[in-house]
Amino acid sequence: KQLKNITILPGDGIGPEVIAQAEKSIQAIAYRYNHDFSLDYAFIGAHAIEETGSPFPEETLRKCRKADAILLGAIGDPKYDEKFESDLRPEQGLLALRKQLQLYANIRPIKVYDNLTHLSPLKEKRIKNVNFVIYRELTGGIYYGKKGRYENGKIAYDHCVYSESEIKRIAILAFEAAMDRRKKLCLVDKANVLETSRLWRSVVKEVAKKYPDVETSFLYIDNAAMQMMNSPAQFDIILTTNLFGDILSDEASIIPGSLGLLPSASIGRNSCLFEPVHGSFPQAAGKDIANPMGAILSVAMMFRHFEMEQEALEVERAVDLCMKEGIMTKDLEVEVHYSCSQLGDLIYSIIAEDLEQINK
Ligand code: IPM
Ligand code: MN
Repeated sequence: KQLKNITILPGDGIGPEVIAQAEKSIQAIAYRYNHDFSLDYAFIGAHAIEETGSPFPEETLRKCRKADAILLGAIGDPKYDEKFESDLRPEQGLLALRKQLQLYANIRPIKVYDNLTHLSPLKEKRIKNVNFVIYRELTGGIYYGKKGRYENGKIAYDHCVYSESEIKRIAILAFEAAMDRRKKLCLVDKANVLETSRLWRSVVKEVAKKYPDVETSFLYIDNAAMQMMNSPAQFDIILTTNLFGDILSDEASIIPGSLGLLPSASIGRNSCLFEPVHGSFPQAAGKDIANPMGAILSVAMMFRHFEMEQEALEVERAVDLCMKEGIMTKDLEVEVHYSCSQLGDLIYSIIAEDLEQINK
């Protein structure tokens, strides 16, 4: 029996709906394994701006700091799309959260489901056996460097800064992950142009010496973006910077054919956060049609991080069972589709009652 404190940030758009389903899978695991999960809630994003005037209120930071894990729904509201000048943007909440808790490694696994290959814009033969993980640096680089304007606003700049220690800590995580997988790691950078990329290369080469079993390779970001479409199955672990990782992980997310299925983890030294890769999808909010699997699989990543491997596998097994039986939400273009909450309930039953088959 284990006790864990989880802070839940439902956020905006479909966030609260998918989080409600993720919670059901947490409850199901608590029931099956007799664990004790204590859930606490806090505001973030547009929802937080409305409630408190800030996208990342003090109280949210406090609750996140003391949690064993944070579970986030989604952030963003089209209402703010025109207001780029303002600091009061929902995304500001997410960027502050990452920085304050030093969630320096964003981890996004990309895997293809056999019976969904027709949804991928890529040909079936290209996406067969795709199974890789992106390790994106999350608290440094151009996202957080000095930014500003001069010449009366006519010239703008964004500084890209990386330190050896920032690179080393995520490189170690990525190499460790490679050791548990197919032992291949590819650093994606722009070392032919950028000084920060040259530092990345030298630090990663240094770290690589400690992992002689890992086959380390290097690609420039432009080439990597192309190869990811052309032969994505070659990748195992991709390690990259904040901005390149942001772009590459969106590119990667179309390979499996649905954004709705992808989970992610953001790891720091003392904190960790789990969230589906999809955004707030405002058009679907409140309609009970969103795909909860990304959020539910994020819960599996959370259990794995807690070193509850069995529990993680249990959640993944439940999702796999639904996928295999074609029990899916509308976005996956099945004829008979299930609602977001129906899928959440079903996943609960599969886990709690240890079902091996589903009576449709
Ligand atoms: C992501 C998002 C964020 C990012 C935005 C919302 C600030 O695109 O998590 O990938 O750019 O990191
Ligand atoms: Mn992004």
